[in-house]
Amino acid sequence: MSAPGNKKQRIDKVLSHMGIGSRSDIRKQAKQGLITVNGAVVKDSGFHVDPYKDKIEVAGEPVRYREYVYLMMNKPPGVLSATEDKRDRTVLDLLKPEHAQFEPFPVGRLDKDTVGLLLLTNDGKLAHELLSPRKHVPKTYEATVEGEVDADDVAAFAAGVELEDGYVTLPAQLTILSRERGSKTISQISLTITEGKFHQVKRMFIAVGKKVTFLKRVSMGELKLDESLPLGACRELTAAELELLTAADGAADLTPESR
Ligand code: URA
Repeated sequence: MSAPGNKKQRIDKVLSHMGIGSRSDIRKQAKQGLITVNGAVVKDSGFHVDPYKDKIEVAGEPVRYREYVYLMMNKPPGVLSATEDKRDRTVLDLLKPEHAQFEPFPVGRLDKDTVGLLLLTNDGKLAHELLSPRKHVPKTYEATVEGEVDADDVAAFAAGVELEDGYVTLPAQLTILSRERGSKTISQISLTITEGKFHQVKRMFIAVGKKVTFLKRVSMGELKLDESLPLGACRELTAAELELLTAADGAADLTPESR
């Protein structure tokens, strides 16, 4: 798809990208006189339009063209944050057709059993910026941990802990939210990390002799999980949320229009 300001495109291509239907559906709708461009009926589905400037309507409904989609999912447990898998369901299997037709992909990975904030987009540039190790985009998790998380752990995480493969993590901010003392002590914590090594949060706790039994991502950069989203549900980011995200990637020119 062309960026704003680029050349005109066939209207069937534009409308199928917007999920209005297949090219042959659109040909039929055009023949039926259901498609208008700037108020004039267009019966030729090969007609060229500027999707950003021309006023396109299908059956009287305006079509607001966009190239990219930005989705927030509250990832449920038991699904993979991958685009395909032979055995397991992936987060893409949970998308509604109107979102899936943009062919979004998950920005980074959450483990199969991790829940919470997962961003999906078809904007490769933004995804790349958010995942770039150079950008250190903070990610905050809440977790249930078996064992008594204490001030020594807070200090160790602030200094960086050595994982089992010898890698020393960047400083991370650990906050103890609550502790339940029973036959086994259970701690509720919040942890902000600025990198994304494989199983990082779980491995950081293993490094201090503790086990994560529940993990939820609650924010990425300035973007916070909408807690009203049920597990497995997805919605588009608001314009304000998208702005928070593009600010977080540290590149001032990353507005959708400039991509
Ligand atoms: N750290 C983990 O251990 N798992 C995740 O899914 C995300 C961060």
